[in-house]
Amino acid sequence: MRKHIKRIAVVAMGAALAAGTLAGCGNGGGDGSGGEAVKVGLLLPETKAARYEAFDRPMFEEKLKSLGNYEVVYSNADQDAAKQQQQAESALAAGIKVLVLDPVDAASAGGIVSSAAAQDVPVISYDRLIAGGGLGYYVSFDNEKVGMLQGSALVEELASRGKADGRILMINGSPTDSNAAQFKKGAHSAIDASDVRVIGEFDTPDWSPDKAQSWAEGQISQHGGDIDGVYAANDGTAGGAVAALKAANADPWPVVTGQDAELSAIQRIVAGDQFMTVYKAIKPEAERAAVVADQLARGEAPQGDTTVEGTPSTLLEPVVVTRENIMDTVVADGFWTVDQICTAQYKAACTEAGIR
Ligand code: BGC
Repeated sequence: MRKHIKRIAVVAMGAALAAGTLAGCGNGGGDGSGGEAVKVGLLLPETKAARYEAFDRPMFEEKLKSLGNYEVVYSNADQDAAKQQQQAESALAAGIKVLVLDPVDAASAGGIVSSAAAQDVPVISYDRLIAGGGLGYYVSFDNEKVGMLQGSALVEELASRGKADGRILMINGSPTDSNAAQFKKGAHSAIDASDVRVIGEFDTPDWSPDKAQSWAEGQISQHGGDIDGVYAANDGTAGGAVAALKAANADPWPVVTGQDAELSAIQRIVAGDQFMTVYKAIKPEAERAAVVADQLARGEAPQGDTTVEGTPSTLLEPVVVTRENIMDTVVADGFWTVDQICTAQYKAACTEAGIR
């Protein structure tokens, strides 16, 4: 199986090289000689998580354009797999040489990989792993570790509050996202090994914060508010959970997790509404994808730092953020500035937390 995938990848790469040479742009247009720009497709999955439009897209475009005469053919699927399929078809019709794809639906995106292969266009699986192989490269984070970090932070914080056997809700990500399964697996490995009890669990369709919120509202009333913690797989769903807890006047306030280090989540952490988030530095992820896209466009075979399901890959390290290390993580890294975090509403809490 592995061998088979490798062989397809090599064939696809050779074909991409030939196509590039025939088109007279074998160097990816990187010589700045004023020729026609080489097109690279970037398809991102949704807009409710802030990262895609605010970080992934601009960081990828900036890096790729610094590497040569490239034009990025961009679309966002708004959580709609059928829409993403159409966006892929039109990017391929526009003549892209490489496709960077963050799939809405990991399984059905295999069809996009086949369409791309039919046009000798290599695919980089971006952030979420596309099922079925045939990929040129995979760049992401260690996603099971993301879940383990969330789960252990929750378990440890509950223990330190004297609730080692506390009752929690689990709000996982979208059932069509391969990452969501990894986060869930990692979180369960930490939670199931502890005395913490999961009293309700939900896979959030489309990662929708609204759906997370209404599910949490139902659970809070069903359990009479007797909830010590909420595992929320990302900051969007954490925002939904926090809104539901506020509406129910939760007291004592439960331990809530998250992921993405969104500005609103960092502010909730400062205010004490959310306990932690996971910071995934998007710049190295987006820039690695751009470097690999440039290599593939020029017919080079990118070297992986590791291999995932037969695909050369890069997996970056996630980092836990709590109130104690906001300065040393997201601020030190330039992801958010103190001014962005400490707006009028959060000034006092920022000062108290030493964020200045
Ligand atoms: C990403 C997360 C994001 C989620 C919702 C996941 O695949 O890794 O960073 O919050 O999708 O878009």
